[in-house]
Amino acid sequence: MTRIGVVGATGLVGNEMLRILEERKFPVQELRAFASSRSEGRRVPFGERWVRCEVLRPGCFEGLDLVMIDVDDPLAVEWAPVAAEAGAKVVDNSAAFRMEPDVPLVVAEVNPDDVDEMPRRIVSCPNCTTMVLLTAVAPLHRAAGIERMVVSTYQSVSGAGQAGIRELDDQWTRDVSRTERLRRAGALEGLIVPGQVWPKPIAANVIPLAGSVGERGYTSEEWKLVHETRKILHDDSVAVTATCVRVPVYVGHAMAVNLSFRSPVTRGQALELLGRAPGVRLVDDGNGYPTPLDSAGIDPVLVGRVRSDPSNPGGLDLWVTGDNLRKGAALNAVQLAELIVDRE
Ligand SMILES: NC(=O)c1ccc[n+]([C@@H]2O[C@H](COP(=O)([O-])OP(=O)(O)OC[C@H]3O[C@@H](n4cnc5c(N)ncnc54)[C@H](OP(=O)(O)O)[C@@H]3O)[C@@H](O)[C@H]2O)c1
Repeated sequence: MTRIGVVGATGLVGNEMLRILEERKFPVQELRAFASSRSEGRRVPFGERWVRCEVLRPGCFEGLDLVMIDVDDPLAVEWAPVAAEAGAKVVDNSAAFRMEPDVPLVVAEVNPDDVDEMPRRIVSCPNCTTMVLLTAVAPLHRAAGIERMVVSTYQSVSGAGQAGIRELDDQWTRDVSRTERLRRAGALEGLIVPGQVWPKPIAANVIPLAGSVGERGYTSEEWKLVHETRKILHDDSVAVTATCVRVPVYVGHAMAVNLSFRSPVTRGQALELLGRAPGVRLVDDGNGYPTPLDSAGIDPVLVGRVRSDPSNPGGLDLWVTGDNLRKGAALNAVQLAELIVDRE
């Protein structure tokens, strides 16, 4: 039995994590929930029970075996080492340690054995987009070696946490209907007011820039896909380029993926490999295709529209969707916790 702490228990990922720990009957002896001082004393549901939130303070992790970190990077940088020093193993959903050479970066279905080496007692979960993508494409990489991957993402607002959901809600309920009413009356347009999270309206819109702009004009989300993919696949030769786009969807990230392989792959071979890939469900019967809404609230990553690329013999085009809060974050973290407990 495990004494477990969830840091960020009131957030989107933390909340989902409490649900998944219960659903999967994780052997919890004691559960402690941590959040900001705004939530001190607030109760969060864990199965039939309610757990009171505590604030982070020196000594708060004493006696815990596992600490799950579901807060932003600066807090993870500060508190993950504190939890590790207190003797806990740490599963971190933030980006704080992902590219550190002595911290493994693990997708449970792809590189589970990497949890065996945790010299800092910390293991990182990849970014939600990388996680969904690699769950789907790693079996193809193992079979034929991905040479190059071109990815266009359609990322939901929950990827930006509670603030993202609130911003879309506010804009839909307050601004979109008003703008539409006025437009129909032949009056003003463009009344959807930008919020705090995105510089342009996200409601009734598509924002072709997710994350912050970095090297060569690519964003932090785009570079995460490049670097995290190589670390997880243990293969620096995989070429990746991406355009990460935010869409007005609540939960579920989708991506269009074009793949070139070292050995050619047919549509038939791909369907066979994906059909038996752990964590993947094929939705590809010619007309059928998965949407973010189909993947919201369920565990598997959905793959459809598998096509042989006519411009690149032996290459493929795919469509992948997955719940960014479940497989993209909380579910993978619980799977890693299970791996850690099993190995102990
Ligand atoms: N959302 C996704 O799809 C996704 C996917 C993969 C990884 N992640 C990562 O997971 C982490 C959490 O994301 P999220 O989407 O769940 O964010 P969120 O909904 O905004 O939740 C943030 C959590 O952090 C807590 N927090 C804020 N300040 C704190 C403080 N000073 N001390 C303790 N707790 C504090 C909040 O508590 P209060 O409620 O008290 O403010 C809340 O529980 C982030 O690192 C994110 O990058 C998110």
